[in-house]
Amino acid sequence: MTRWVIRDAVIFEEDGRRVEGDVLVDGERIAKVGDVGNAGDAQEVRAEGRWLWPGVIDAHVHFREPGPTHKEDWDSGSAAAVSGGVTSVIDMPNTSPATTTLERLSEKREVARAKARCNVGLYFGANPHNLEAILTSQGEAAVAGLKIFMADSTGDLLVDRYEDLERIFEAYSGRICVHAEDPQRMREREAMFEGREDPGVHSEIRDAETAARAVAVAGELAARFGRRVHVLHLSTRAELLALKEAQARLEEVGGGGRITCEVCPHHLFLDARDYEFWGTRVQMNPPLRTEAERDAMWEALGRGEVAMIATDHAPHTPEEKAHPYGQAPSGVPGVELSLPLMLDAAFRGVCSYEEVLGWMCEGPARVHQVVDRGRIAEGAFADLVLIDPHMMRRVEDKDQRSRCGWTPYAGRDLTGWPVRTWVNGNEVFRRLDEGAGEVVGTGGEGMWMMFEG
Ligand code: DOR
Ligand code: ZN
Repeated sequence: MTRWVIRDAVIFEEDGRRVEGDVLVDGERIAKVGDVGNAGDAQEVRAEGRWLWPGVIDAHVHFREPGPTHKEDWDSGSAAAVSGGVTSVIDMPNTSPATTTLERLSEKREVARAKARCNVGLYFGANPHNLEAILTSQGEAAVAGLKIFMADSTGDLLVDRYEDLERIFEAYSGRICVHAEDPQRMREREAMFEGREDPGVHSEIRDAETAARAVAVAGELAARFGRRVHVLHLSTRAELLALKEAQARLEEVGGGGRITCEVCPHHLFLDARDYEFWGTRVQMNPPLRTEAERDAMWEALGRGEVAMIATDHAPHTPEEKAHPYGQAPSGVPGVELSLPLMLDAAFRGVCSYEEVLGWMCEGPARVHQVVDRGRIAEGAFADLVLIDPHMMRRVEDKDQRSRCGWTPYAGRDLTGWPVRTWVNGNEVFRRLDEGAGEVVGTGGEGMWMMFEG
């Protein structure tokens, strides 16, 4: 395996400590951080003061394979990931077929390993009938935990009856992540708004209360059974309140349970006003919120109440998205631009770079107890991204490597871009000028992620 020495970088070590120096990569792992000196036959990269970060861990993507691979597959999805400085992804089970049996799990695991340029974790899917499979999936290679859709979204995974949720929470002791929306309130509101055809109605049907009620249910179950629960794509103050109440309750009862949450870039960089320009393109579940909710998410991140950022990368083609409201699928792509968007936010002073590192690298590693990734340290896997914090580029659809070929951030000028990415010591992406760069990984560089607990 190739050895690399990356010289004269500003290295972001744990807790955002910045040190100037070199990093030596030997095989899959980081061999030395600091002053490397003579590195023998190692390939040399001159960082010239650019920043070396641990690769981003995006713990929420929909790479679509097996299933609708005209939107994405492990080849295009992982190319998009590494172009954006993302070195590990955790894929959701609403593929087709859904990842609800051990057989489907091992099929997905094999195809992902063969094709992915980034590391791979997988969520196992819950339905009302697969409890036995759920229990055996715990501890299986690459499995990060269990995903429960509490309300309808894309695909056919749904556990919308309280009794079924109860049975699963009682039996399963692994990490449970929830798509938290209350199905009953959603259906009531669907009927209430019948006849409205503008995409903005999506945000009214799936309102803040719809989300908050489901967070409360998940929190109650976590406390009752002492479970570790992660709330996906939190987007409202009402959910934050429900989350805090659940956290207080969990502390009170002891029992080892805990509840964490993530926020997605689209709830930080877009809001309901964007329907006017983008229409159904920016329809997703949970939906875009008001400007005030969007500000509240930034504030919650700033207060340390949100453990991590994940993209909910959910590609659909422009043709599919062009259908009228009601027929257009929900979801927007995100894995490719989350890091540039956040670096740009830090450049503009909205947050600090250290916070970005915490939310995108260390946070997901901590929440998911990822083994040996998410930080630059001797002995950790060599998942690295070299960042040019001053590079300015315009986002354009034509540069997107996601197979869906578009992004809701097109037209934005962002400052701060990944210029080189390594996964397990393999160079997978290189940008030598201000252009779109080149994906040099051919697939198979990724490994199955490992999770403690
Ligand atoms: O907007 C969404 N799209 N939300 C989900 O829950 C699923 C996702 C998808 O898979 O397209
Ligand atoms: Zn999702």
